[in-house]
Amino acid sequence: MQIKNNVYWVGKIDWELRKFHGNELSTHRGSTYNSYLVKEEKIALIDTVWSPFKKEFIRNLEKHVDVQKIDYVIANHAESDHSGALPELMSYIPDVPVYCTANGVKSLKGHYHEDWDFHPVKTGDRLSLGDKDLVFIEAPMLHWPDSMFCYLTKDNMLFSNDAFGQHYASEYMFNDLVNQADLYSEALKYYANILTPFSALVDKKIKEILGLKLPVDIICPSHGMIWRKNPLQIVELYQKWANLYKENQITILYDTMWDGTRVMAEHIAKGIIDVDKAVQVKLFNVGKSDKNDAIAEVFKSKGILIGSPTINRGVLTAVASMLEEIKGLGFKGKKAASFGCYGWSGESVKQISDHLKNAGFTVFDDGLKVLWNPDDQARQQCVEYGKKIAKQFS
Ligand code: FEO
Repeated sequence: MQIKNNVYWVGKIDWELRKFHGNELSTHRGSTYNSYLVKEEKIALIDTVWSPFKKEFIRNLEKHVDVQKIDYVIANHAESDHSGALPELMSYIPDVPVYCTANGVKSLKGHYHEDWDFHPVKTGDRLSLGDKDLVFIEAPMLHWPDSMFCYLTKDNMLFSNDAFGQHYASEYMFNDLVNQADLYSEALKYYANILTPFSALVDKKIKEILGLKLPVDIICPSHGMIWRKNPLQIVELYQKWANLYKENQITILYDTMWDGTRVMAEHIAKGIIDVDKAVQVKLFNVGKSDKNDAIAEVFKSKGILIGSPTINRGVLTAVASMLEEIKGLGFKGKKAASFGCYGWSGESVKQISDHLKNAGFTVFDDGLKVLWNPDDQARQQCVEYGKKIAKQFS
């Protein structure tokens, strides 16, 4: 598929993908592994696809080019979803130089134990393809140490690898041809679940790229849709998302054994809405909900509540898992509180509060504990706690 002039998409649409990074990330809409072929006077291939599709990748590539005629291979990122077909490709062209960052050399060697003709590049290095150049831009920790972008002069195309991507399969491949709400939702979910820990670096890198004053007509990420209509819209969104992003939303995450903590969650939600009709309140039973969808909602929230009954002096495992996930992502500028019911020892609520404080949330108190299932008085106590939360989180 032609993208612009002599640039072709030669990737793979993976309609079946439902879990990514092992089982870590849900991909309800599948994904794509975008590889790009640039056929100028010199021929460059930018990234490959995941290894299960390596044979199919080479077969398709050969429809566009005799692989023996490829002059340069560019590896923007060593993670297997982009480099998985590299060993297969390099078995046909073992002497073709591979351009990547110095960390890319380490990662690719670590993955494949091959001593290809690596050419480490730094920001600003150029590779001439004849009339046009590829300009390399290191992008460490967006989202691996080896990550980089490259930019094709004259066509003004930025190949951004994982940045600006989405796990979103579509035959249409361009941002203006797909459902805009789905596209936004997948781009946000991708950012929330993958790039949140690196937000400070995202902001810095975007400022650096904008500072280069390179005209950008098309942004070609390595997953999902290519941004050709108003491509800078995704850059502007990333700037927003990287800077303590929050909407007027409070998300309540809980798990429950015999419904007591669920009843608490629902009454706290009622209290919040009683005080603030404008705030979006969303509830997720984390034992039954998709973890990554819930994380996307946390990302959008100004504050969160996490609830669990006490079991074995601790919290339910689904809550423990969510707390770890939230801590790892390093959310900043968000408020939090905890709640839960108990029968005798009742440690869960304070443990959640402490965990949330350690994870960088602003926590105002030790949370709300209710003995046994909430009766009418305890339900009212939850409503009052919700009212207090609405004011504290405003
Ligand atoms: Fe799409 Fe970091 O790999």
